[in-house]
Amino acid sequence: MCGIVGYIGHRKAVPVLLHGLQRLEYRGYDSAGIAVLDENKKQIIIEKQVGKVKDLQEYLWGKDINGSIGIAHTRWATHGPPSIENAHPHISKSGTIAVVHNGIIENYASLKEMLINKGYTFKSQTDTEVIAHLIEDLYDGNLLNTVLKVAKQLEGAYAIGVISTLEPDKIIGLRKGSPLIVGLGEGENFIASDIPAILEYTKKFITLDDEEIAVLTKDKVEIYDINGDKKEKKPFTVNWDIAAAEKGGYKHFMLKEIYEQPRTITDTLAGFFSNLDNPVFRQLDKIQNIVIIACGTSYHAGLVGKFWIEKYVKIPVIVDYASEFRYRDFPVSDKTLIIAISQSGETADTRFAAIDARRKGAKVLSIVNVVGSSLSRESDYVLYTYCGPEIGVAATKTFTAQLITLLLFALKSGLESGNITASEFEEYHKKLNHLPVLINEVLKEDKIIEEISYKYHNAKDFLFLGRGLNYPIAFEGALKLKEISYIHAEGYPAGEMKHGPIALIDENLPVVCLAPKDSLYEKMISNIQEVKARKGIVITLTDSEDKEIKELSNEAIKIPSVSDENLYPIVLSVPLQLLAYHIAVILGKDVDQPRNLAKTVTVE
Ligand code: F6R
Repeated sequence: MCGIVGYIGHRKAVPVLLHGLQRLEYRGYDSAGIAVLDENKKQIIIEKQVGKVKDLQEYLWGKDINGSIGIAHTRWATHGPPSIENAHPHISKSGTIAVVHNGIIENYASLKEMLINKGYTFKSQTDTEVIAHLIEDLYDGNLLNTVLKVAKQLEGAYAIGVISTLEPDKIIGLRKGSPLIVGLGEGENFIASDIPAILEYTKKFITLDDEEIAVLTKDKVEIYDINGDKKEKKPFTVNWDIAAAEKGGYKHFMLKEIYEQPRTITDTLAGFFSNLDNPVFRQLDKIQNIVIIACGTSYHAGLVGKFWIEKYVKIPVIVDYASEFRYRDFPVSDKTLIIAISQSGETADTRFAAIDARRKGAKVLSIVNVVGSSLSRESDYVLYTYCGPEIGVAATKTFTAQLITLLLFALKSGLESGNITASEFEEYHKKLNHLPVLINEVLKEDKIIEEISYKYHNAKDFLFLGRGLNYPIAFEGALKLKEISYIHAEGYPAGEMKHGPIALIDENLPVVCLAPKDSLYEKMISNIQEVKARKGIVITLTDSEDKEIKELSNEAIKIPSVSDENLYPIVLSVPLQLLAYHIAVILGKDVDQPRNLAKTVTVE
């Protein structure tokens, strides 16, 4: 959470920093600020605003800040509520050092007490202010050495950016647990939490690894390890351009990303099939159990993945919330395969659970979207979802890509372990290739879904029901709705409803029923009957033309028939995304940046 950007070069820093912050806003958006060295580099100018980057931008309008070295920050509050005082950058007592920070300093309270005893006063409630004062306190005439000394005292996971009037021609960036990349330009260089922040200016990047520190001047970037030893790091070039991170005519990123799914599915399939020799498939004979760990939407993908892996690989699978798995004594061994699923590859809960399990001997396969992200580098094997940047805070296109990757993983592993034949595998390949066409069919239902959204947007609660492969999709539908519309919603396996949640049903409760014509269709119809008998409002998603389901449905959203029931979870996800989207838009909510959330959750 929180986004950092830093610039040193020949341009005015403020527009570059504001641009960068806008592209990082998905990481947090409760306040924003910049720190820029003034033209004669004698003073640090700090400007902050509560609210979004556009509030800071409006506030800075007409202010003449000409410096070309600066750092900036968009915040997702951890220590202290959103306020000007708590907004970053934070400045040291004498005003010579400014710091932006993403992450948490776990021992900040004891450091703060030590600094207060030395005469430092604190203006904010943040953990970050400690870093600025500590750098000032330990400054020994060499900013790099001082930041390294400070890093040894800080506990927690963090990334920081530092500028100083004491050594005005540099920016220092340090990574320990939270992401930080360096952008390489001509006569200018950058640091940022993520690539899109600076993609407008360069396509050449270096990813900092943990405990690495970058010293940027206008013309040079040097990387050191935490002991101050210089390192050589090879830059890489990204091949997507800034259009991929823009709305492209859609009202919201979320809508654009929902509509991108036919393409992202094609890309994910192509990516997987170009990587069939991934070494993970040669390890399966050594694996006795599989644990899928993930959070939020990625966890829901894992729940579906369990069905496929158990069916085709015939290895027992446990799916757990990463935040829970890490703190329970689950026996892992070198015969355990951990599958860590994460769009960002930066989710602290997932990363640290995977790191712990790996330390205990397990092998880790990660399924991630962001190439080069921390989790991908901390795993034994990686399968990428090839979706490009996902900017909307609510995951959409990456969820369907995770499902496809899990299905393909199960099928390919099934092939390797002799549970399915080469021709069966090829048959599945063909069926999956047809998915983009099916998703385009679903997207044609958008208008009907919008009309249904108008009818029910005032409901206080929603229930989502599904069975078998599709019960996790009910969970995901409920999560999508609650996170962007703030309507309370629950997902349930339909067969479990009678064991409690049925008490919630009355004439005011919309119940979204996933009723594809699969092997559990008849069972699902019985569950819908139970809802109807209690006067619930039945909204069905189905490809069935049966009279019975038509009579039971207050509203029906048509989904295309599929050649294989494994495809239903993917097809059903899209109308649920659209339903959540439209309800949130009708309610006037901030769809792309819902309150209290952040796209990348780098705190535990
Ligand atoms: C919901 C959503 C979150 C994420 C979760 C994990 O729409 O986006 O629930 O799925 O924070 O994030 P990743 O996948 O980046 O680990």
